Amino acid sequence: MSNRTLAIIKPDAVKKNVCGKIIAMMEEAGFKVVAMKKTRLTKAVAGAFYEVHKERPFYGELVDFMCSGPVVPIILEKENAVADYRTLIGATDPAEAEEGTIRKLYADSKGENAVHGSDSDENAAIESNFFFSRQDQVNLA
Ligand code: CMP
Repeated sequence: MSNRTLAIIKPDAVKKNVCGKIIAMMEEAGFKVVAMKKTRLTKAVAGAFYEVHKERPFYGELVDFMCSGPVVPIILEKENAVADYRTLIGATDPAEAEEGTIRKLYADSKGENAVHGSDSDENAAIESNFFFSRQDQVNLA
């Protein structure tokens, strides 16, 4: 599992119709798509996904935003997936993100920041299991 990470294309990027462009950036960076779907989160589901941020002042805003439209969760595979994907997406705040990163190109703010990425191997496994069954995660490559 250590070569996998969980990405989510968030409602702002789905609304901009740039899922294909973002997935192309993932593939061009050497990631393979293991599992992917388009879905819409309820408040309860988004709240559970971001439970670790429950005490943060932006939690309510974050949950409302993640329910505001469809999202595209994706399990990505590549050597060093967690760290390399975080490099590809750039800093949480697009104003601080490096040129050429997904957030620099497509994010509008710290809250509406186009994509999510797991922050550790442990959370990559937890977050992948949150969205996908064991069968979904079988590598077909
Ligand atoms: P994500 O990688 O999905 O993980 C937690 C999210 O919280 C983060 O991306 C941001 O979208 C969001 N977040 C972090 N800081 C703030 C903030 N100050 N205001 C609103 N949302 C935030």
